[in-house]
Amino acid sequence: MQTSDWDARYAEKAQWSAGPNALVAALLGDLPPGRAVDLAAGEGRHARWLAGLGWEVTAVDFSAVGLDRGRAAPGGDAVHWVVADVLTWTPPAADLDLVLVAYLHLPEADTVDLLTRAVGWLRPGGRLLVLGHDVANLDAGVGGPRDAAILHSVDRLAPVARLLAVDRLEQVSRETPAGTALDTLLLGRRRD
Ligand SMILES: C[S@@+](CC[C@H](N)C(=O)[O-])C[C@H]1O[C@@H](n2cnc3c(N)ncnc32)[C@H](O)[C@@H]1O
Repeated sequence: MQTSDWDARYAEKAQWSAGPNALVAALLGDLPPGRAVDLAAGEGRHARWLAGLGWEVTAVDFSAVGLDRGRAAPGGDAVHWVVADVLTWTPPAADLDLVLVAYLHLPEADTVDLLTRAVGWLRPGGRLLVLGHDVANLDAGVGGPRDAAILHSVDRLAPVARLLAVDRLEQVSRETPAGTALDTLLLGRRRD
């Protein structure tokens, strides 16, 4: 989907939950606050939640309409919002404590390139959290894009995982009102 497609979706109605994904909240909620980037932040449900926990958060997305929704939502004034294509954007300062990438689906090579660059933005010990629809969701789950070429899997994220000390790399299930969805989770820390 292009920027204009996402702008149209966000202009029509709010797209995502007001609060964070439950797994993201469980994995990050107890970390000491630091500097974070939320890539493809959309309406900023994770960026605003992290900022509320004391994190200094930059939320990046190419949809200005999506970010406007986030800016106007509760807690939106605590986030630094950046309209940019994540494929070309780089943070002004590195040594980040966290890069979060939730439900961003790009062709596999773009995903690996982006996440490899994102690992380079982390301080030693800084975390990368990637969560998105698993390719198995096409046949055995609900929701998400219907294009296998842009979905995640453990194998597809393995080249990025090899750059990290990995805490979690696995397929996870998520209960939704429509049924069970299958996601891929990668959580790791930059090595010293
Ligand atoms: C499914 S939404 C997820 C939003 C958010 N991460 C969340 O979990 O609520 C995907 C987001 O990716 C953004 N996006 C897709 N490709 C992008 C790109 N190349 N650069 C920046 N944002 C992009 C879209 O605008 C959209 O907001």
